[in-house]
Amino acid sequence: MRQIISRIEDFDRNRTYAGRFLLRFASIDSTNLFCLENRSVLERAGLVVMAERQTKGRGSKGKQWEAGTGSHLFCSFVVHPRLDVNLIPSMTIFSGLAVFRILKALGAKELSIKWPNDILLANKKVCGILCESRLHQDLKAVVIGIGINISGDSSQFSTELRGKATTLSEHGIETSPMRLLAPLAKEIDSILLRAENVRERKKIFQLWEQASNSIGRQISFNDGQDKGIIIGLDDLGRLMVQTPDGRLKGIESATVEYP
Ligand code: BTN
Repeated sequence: MRQIISRIEDFDRNRTYAGRFLLRFASIDSTNLFCLENRSVLERAGLVVMAERQTKGRGSKGKQWEAGTGSHLFCSFVVHPRLDVNLIPSMTIFSGLAVFRILKALGAKELSIKWPNDILLANKKVCGILCESRLHQDLKAVVIGIGINISGDSSQFSTELRGKATTLSEHGIETSPMRLLAPLAKEIDSILLRAENVRERKKIFQLWEQASNSIGRQISFNDGQDKGIIIGLDDLGRLMVQTPDGRLKGIESATVEYP
């Protein structure tokens, strides 16, 4: 059952891409699903949908995003990117860097980005990002879904997740979903604006590389058939991998395994 808190209201009309309007739910199945299912919501560029609780949060690779019992950020930004369609997969890169920067500003230490969509605190996942797009002739919308674990400790998560997930409060950072939302919207907005310019976009990819723990790591992809070492990001934000025969490959899907 979807329980709405307030109708669409102004959030920050100075923003271009992210967080111009806000829609809040007490409870919802999934903020991403809500956006994707409603054409009028997808049309509302700059809207952020936020929920205090999700009952069927969507994770990557068709998995469910575990809610945990604490208070966490569950939100989806509806964005109409003015970027070439080839750059749509790098929306995850742009949003990952935005999350990294706001958490860094809050004093998070041992923070890193694991390609493609994980933000880690002391090597445990504190945030997941799921970008889903609807690219129609007349409407090109990307839904940037972001989940940040804020309060409580990792005992709130299932046994499977317990050793792998963490929260901000476990690392001494006390905040709330609403207090994270405004800086997050501001950071996504500013990164997406910069990304319109080729040179600025290169700098963003470099910042992401500096923030990532993935560079130099060995990975396998194509269902384990291919192996390589991560070199960095290419001009389209794809993961550049050097294969054992010395060739460079650009990967954009999430089918990568870290052995
Ligand atoms: C991942 O698997 O790492 C991605 C998780 C993304 C979770 C967020 S929570 C808010 C938004 N709504 C969803 O249903 N999923 C995303």
